[in-house]
Amino acid sequence: MVSPNWVPPFRLLAVTLSSLKLGPAFPPWLRSQTSLEILQIRNASIATIPEWFWVSFSRAMFVDLMDNHLTGTLPARLEFMAADVMILSNNRLTGAVPKFPRNITYMDLSRNSFGTLPSDFRAPHLEALILYNNSISGPIPSSLCSLSQLVMLDLSGNNLTGEVPSCQEGSVNPLLHNLMVVNLNTNNLSGEFPRVLQNCHYLALVDLSYNRFSGDIPAWIGVKLPNLALLRLRYNMFSGQIPIEIGKIQELQFLDLAHNKFSGSIPDSLVHLSAMARTSGYSYVLNSVIRAGRGPHLYNSIYVVGFFIEKESFLTKGQQLEFSEQIPYMVVLDMSCNNLTGAIPQDIGALIGLRSLNFSWNNLRGAIPEKIGGLQQLESLDLSNNELSGQIPSSMTGLTSLSHMNLSYNNLSGKIPTNNQFQTFDASDYIGNIGLCGYPLTNNCTGNSSSGPTNADHGDGSDDISLYLGLAVGYILGLWVVFCVLLFKKRWSTAYFVFVEGLQDKIYVAMVLRWANLKRKVGET
Ligand SMILES: *[C@@H]1O[C@H](CO)[C@@H](O)[C@H](O)[C@H]1NC(C)=O
Ligand SMILES: *[C@@H]1O[C@H](CO)[C@@H](O)[C@H](O)[C@H]1NC(C)=O
Ligand SMILES: *[C@@H]1O[C@H](CO)[C@@H](O)[C@H](O)[C@H]1NC(C)=O
Ligand SMILES: *[C@@H]1O[C@H](CO)[C@@H](O)[C@H](O)[C@H]1NC(C)=O
Ligand SMILES: *[C@@H]1O[C@H](CO)[C@@H](O)[C@H](O)[C@H]1NC(C)=O
Ligand SMILES: *[C@@H]1O[C@H](CO)[C@@H](O)[C@H](O)[C@H]1NC(C)=O
Ligand SMILES: *[C@@H]1O[C@H](CO)[C@@H](O)[C@H](O)[C@H]1NC(C)=O
Ligand SMILES: *[C@@H]1O[C@H](CO)[C@@H](O)[C@H](O)[C@H]1NC(C)=O
Ligand SMILES: *[C@@H]1O[C@H](CO)[C@@H](O)[C@H](O)[C@H]1NC(C)=O
Ligand SMILES: *[C@@H]1O[C@H](CO)[C@@H](O)[C@H](O)[C@H]1NC(C)=O
Ligand SMILES: *[C@@H]1O[C@H](CO)[C@@H](O)[C@H](O)[C@H]1NC(C)=O
Repeated sequence: MVSPNWVPPFRLLAVTLSSLKLGPAFPPWLRSQTSLEILQIRNASIATIPEWFWVSFSRAMFVDLMDNHLTGTLPARLEFMAADVMILSNNRLTGAVPKFPRNITYMDLSRNSFGTLPSDFRAPHLEALILYNNSISGPIPSSLCSLSQLVMLDLSGNNLTGEVPSCQEGSVNPLLHNLMVVNLNTNNLSGEFPRVLQNCHYLALVDLSYNRFSGDIPAWIGVKLPNLALLRLRYNMFSGQIPIEIGKIQELQFLDLAHNKFSGSIPDSLVHLSAMARTSGYSYVLNSVIRAGRGPHLYNSIYVVGFFIEKESFLTKGQQLEFSEQIPYMVVLDMSCNNLTGAIPQDIGALIGLRSLNFSWNNLRGAIPEKIGGLQQLESLDLSNNELSGQIPSSMTGLTSLSHMNLSYNNLSGKIPTNNQFQTFDASDYIGNIGLCGYPLTNNCTGNSSSGPTNADHGDGSDDISLYLGLAVGYILGLWVVFCVLLFKKRWSTAYFVFVEGLQDKIYVAMVLRWANLKRKVGET
């Protein structure tokens, strides 16, 4: 052990220690290391930040104390700090979020117990503001609008109230015009769909789920947000019709409007969502902003920093599967639990990239479109609890990837198909349809003798069942969305090669892109 009074006979530029038991006290011998540019001590059971910390390391550029047991509050102001990256994620810090270091670009205070935001965000260079999973209450201060460089905003999992600031034409040019990721899920926010997002041409991901937002989805979304790839509004009080303009969002491949009060019919324009019609079902835009893993890394002279947006699983067939890198491949349409009427768009089969379709718990009428058989990649289909009528289209037997289907509580009739996947579905997928008959239901289809032969082969289907289980393995459910910010720092062009070994995830390397680069590419698509 090092003596507490030891003053090391050298001056360090960088300290990077992880997964050691150093705490509970902060290592006192570091006090004299006032030339440190990089301080990274993760997962070292440190419980307190000494008062001298802020003075000794006021010149450090990169301060990272993630995954410790830090308690107490931070100084009210950190404006004197030189830091441009600060990460105190996953500790037990309380009290107010301090005033940020003046030159900060990346601030991660997630997974603590901070209670309030500063009334004045003054951080003209801030690109990533990551405060998810705290206990922050009160409104989002309007000074957020002054963060003109902001690319990523994650305030999810707090107790924020009030409306998102509208950022009316202020002093600065288009407000928040660099935003690419906005995650406000699981708060207590209200008001309309945030109007400020009109300015955000590069926006790729918007998650407002689990709040109290109301009003309708504005029509401008189809014009102003061409790069939107993921829109998640579940569990709010949005109402009105789903605007037809939504069909113009070329990149949209994940649309979740579940558990709102939308009414009217499902716009036919949805079938024009070209990102859902790609056979590859792959979103360049999402891939660009997402990576697997958490927290920042340093790679040569490049910061590679990431943050965790959300980990939530969809429940399917009683199994919860997580995925990480798969998010760019997720092609999802979920409008369940609304008050939608009318028919399912006839040309829904055009969205050939769809993997999950959920229109359950609405008032949809008419027949299931014959063209639904075109959804060759569909793995999950839930049309339960509607008023659909007519027969189950025979084209559905061609949905060979389908591993979960629910047609219960409709007004469907006729004989249930028995080919392919349909041998794997059980009676609970059909309950509440008085007119359906045949396997796996117990009522026979009387008077249709032609159905005899197809019915006969369901006794020896054991081989087929194992085949279908095999298909189900590729079934991806759950949502583990992780985003990264890649900040390229010219002034560190002398390589801090010492950090290379900290790079466990090769994905980072492939993802090294400058924001400018990324935006240019996004803009091209
Ligand atoms: C933290 O460090 C311990 C060893 O001290 C290690 O077992 C654990 O995996 C580390 N956790 C993380 C998240 O790195
Ligand atoms: C912020 O950056 C500028 C320019 O690089 C520098 O002059 C200034 O001292 C920095 N501020 C702090 C508090 O380090
Ligand atoms: C955030 O908090 C929620 C609710 O407590 C929890 O389920 C989730 O795992 C947390 N996320 C992280 C990354 O800690
Ligand atoms: C959120 O704040 C309200 C009042 O401000 C309080 O009643 C409620 O318990 C808080 N919820 C959580 C989850 O902290
Ligand atoms: C949300 O805010 C309302 C008051 O506006 C309050 O009654 C409710 O408890 C809050 N919900 C949570 C989960 O904090
Ligand atoms: C469809 O949505 C309903 C309501 O949101 C949900 O209960 C159900 O589990 C979903 N179906 C699938 C297959 O995920
Ligand atoms: C659903 O919409 C109909 C009109 O289209 C309306 O009469 C009814 O009250 C709505 N139900 C709910 C639960 O909003
Ligand atoms: C169910 O469908 C039949 C025709 O297949 C129709 O006559 C009947 O009115 C429908 N019932 C309801 C409740 O929609
Ligand atoms: C018999 O088959 C015809 C056409 O295939 C269908 O319209 C009818 O509903 C079927 N009747 C029963 C009882 O399944
Ligand atoms: C289908 O949905 C109904 C009603 O929502 C439910 O009772 C049934 O268990 C579901 N079946 C499956 C296989 O999930
Ligand atoms: C259905 O048909 C099978 C064989 O064709 C017969 O054994 C069974 O008793 C029939 N069930 C009913 C309810 O008529």
